[in-house]
Parts: sequence; C-alpha cells; structure tokens
Amino acid sequence: MADDSGDMLSWDESVFRDEHVFEIDYVPETFRHRESQLESLKYALRPAVRGSRPLNTIVRGPPGTGKTTAVQKLFGELGAQPGVRTVRVNCQVDSTRYAVFSRLFENIFEYEPPSSGISFKKLFGQITDRLVEDDEVLVVALDDVNYLFYENEASDTLYSLLRAHEAHSGARIGVIIISSDLSLDVVDELDRRVQSVFRPEEVYFPVYDVHEIVDILRDRIDRGFHDDVVGSQELDRVAELTGKSGDLRVGIDLLHRAGLNAEMRASRTVTVEDVETAYDKSKYVHLSRSLRSLSDSEQALVEVVADHNGERAGEVYDAFHEATDLGYTRYSELVNKLDQLGLIEASYTDVDGRGRSRSLSLAYEPDAVLDRLESDAAGN
Ligand SMILES: Nc1ncnc2c1ncn2[C@@H]1O[C@H](COP(=O)(O)OP(=O)(O)OP(=O)(O)O)[C@@H](O)[C@H]1O
Ligand SMILES: [Mg+2]
Repeated sequence: MADDSGDMLSWDESVFRDEHVFEIDYVPETFRHRESQLESLKYALRPAVRGSRPLNTIVRGPPGTGKTTAVQKLFGELGAQPGVRTVRVNCQVDSTRYAVFSRLFENIFEYEPPSSGISFKKLFGQITDRLVEDDEVLVVALDDVNYLFYENEASDTLYSLLRAHEAHSGARIGVIIISSDLSLDVVDELDRRVQSVFRPEEVYFPVYDVHEIVDILRDRIDRGFHDDVVGSQELDRVAELTGKSGDLRVGIDLLHRAGLNAEMRASRTVTVEDVETAYDKSKYVHLSRSLRSLSDSEQALVEVVADHNGERAGEVYDAFHEATDLGYTRYSELVNKLDQLGLIEASYTDVDGRGRSRSLSLAYEPDAVLDRLESDAAGN
C-alpha cells in the first residue's frame, strides 16, 4: 500500500524511462524532417562507395537544426562500406590545420602522432601514403568549420585537403564543411587559390517549424519518459519556447530539466509550470555551448567585458591587460572572434568632439554569462 501513494513518486521511482536520450551527444534513432537534406548529402557522397572522390559539400544552417546529426548518421552508414573511411573533426576543439591533420592521423593509424612533433609535411605524407596503400577514400567532415575561420586556418586546411590528390597521386579525399555561422560567407572568405578548387554542393538546414519540433520531441518523450508523464499541453509549450530560437537543443534540454523539476516535487507528471521554470536555464544552452568552446584567454576577456559592459574598447583593454598581461594585437583578435561568435557586440559611438569610438558590450545578460562561466569552471 505504501508504495502505491497515488501521484507521488517513491524514492526508487523516476519519471524517466531512459534519461540518456536527453544527453548532448545522443544520436537519435529516428531523424525526421530532414529527408531532402539526407538525399542531397547521399548524392554527394555516393561516388566514395565506387572508389571515387565524393563531391565536396557545404552544409549550412542555424544552430540546433540537425547538421551534425545528419552527418553522423550518414558517416555511420558510409563508414561501414569497404574502401571508405569517414572522419568527423570538431573544429571547436581542433581549430588549426595541424590539429585537424593530427586528428585524421589518429583516426587512420589508431594512435596519436608523435608528441615530439613532426612537420606538417610529414604528417600529411604519412596520411596520404596510408590511404593509397590501403586503397581507401577518405571523407572528412569539418564540423563547426567557422572556428577555423576565426583562427585564420581555414584556407590552409582546405587547400591541403583539396589538393591532396595532386601532391600525392592516388590519394582521394572529399570534404564536407559544416557551418552554423550564417553571417560568414564561407567560400567568399577563402583565399583565391582555394576558391579555384573548391566549388561545393550546398545543403541548407532551415530551422524546424513548431509542428516539426512537436513531432521530433514526441519521439524523444516516448523514449525518455514513462507513459503519460508529459501531456500534449506541456509538449506544445516546450515546442513554442523552442521555436523562439529554433534550436532543438533548447527543447531537449527543456524536457530534461522539466522532468527533473517534476521529480523534485516527487510528481509523476510534468506540468507547464515545470516547463516554465526550466526555461530560465534552458534558454541559455547556446550560450553555455559557446562559452565552453573558449580558451582561457577568451574566457578571461568575456569576464572583463562583463565587468565593464558597454565601456570603451580602450578601457576594456586596460582591464584585460591587467588581468592577463596580453598585448593589444592579441586583444583585438580575441575581440573579433567573440564578436563573430555573437558573444559580444562592438558598436561605434560618437564621443563629443573627439570622433567615433568603439564600445564593447555582452550580447547576453552579464549575470547569466558570469554564472555560466563559474559553473563551467567548477565542472558542472
Ligand atoms: N530531425 C531530428 N530528429 C531528432 N533529433 C534531432 C533532429 N534534429 C536535431 N536533433 C537533435 O537536436 C540536437 C541538435 O542537433 P545537431 O547537433 O545535429 O544540430 P546542429 O545543426 O549540428 O547544431 P550546431 O550548428 O549548433 O552544431 C541534437 O541533440 C540532435 O539529436
Ligand atoms: Mg553541430
């Protein structure tokens, strides 16, 4: 009788059937509303199965629209074909040409390149020799390629990949680049020498509309929650809030946090109230993700801007220099990168009589940013 206490959860019960489906790197079984994008990608990749170089492709679309998932799904299938090797490189982590090729090396040889360091040329040569020897076509996805642009490494990286067959006869490499930075005109930003060899197919991932979001999240609910935990009214509210940014990660995070809120009340069902409370945190998933990708000095700059929100660039520099000892050139590079990432906004204001001056402010509430920086530093 005691454990049948109506609407209350007992200690050993959970609203979740499988909480894992709400994790960040979970690859969903069902992947709906991306049929045409998958078809286009398959078309571009098909030559690899016949032993030829696939068509180079650029995948574009706002955050959380399924770009990474689509490539993971296709690479799963394609990589199982004989004579084809697929590697997805996360350019948030590997943001230089050398780092990208180290990652390729690691995948192909199944050990890391010597840490004593070998020249890029040697690294490159070993990779292509091995591909030729094994008679393999290599398909590389440069995910979040915008980070290579922020570091000024995109042209060199692509040039090496695209010209591999000329430098090493018999080497066959195809490239998919994935970008969520819509303000970045990828091809336009590349050097001429790269543009002349890079004429990619384009596949665009638009934001999901509210009906599509409902469809997709319903699948996730069925897998992740026990029956009847999330009702249709709650799902509609989650979809509506997700639709504000269109980033599906917000919806997945909302479901997870709303479930945890319900458990906190020992309730068997999620209410709209649980969803609303969760949104205070979930709306920042994109911010958290951007912050996590930053280096220490980039994070330091974010902190300084938060403390000097809206002040002039020169004043922000003084505080930054004091905090990190870094010089002006590096400071300007970092300001540009944070601006491109949409974390800070640089605007020009007229200073009375003294011409125009640049001022820097955060694109988010300073407290929200500082909270997240602290909790990430604490490993949460
Ligand atoms: N059609 C879909 N069906 C099921 N889950 C999806 C679908 N599209 C996206 N998702 C889920 O949404 C989340 C975000 O998707 P994904 O990481 O593929 O987006 P993205 O376009 O690569 O975003 P970003 O540009 O920010 O890297 C993932 O957890 C993924 O599982
Ligand atoms: Mg992605």
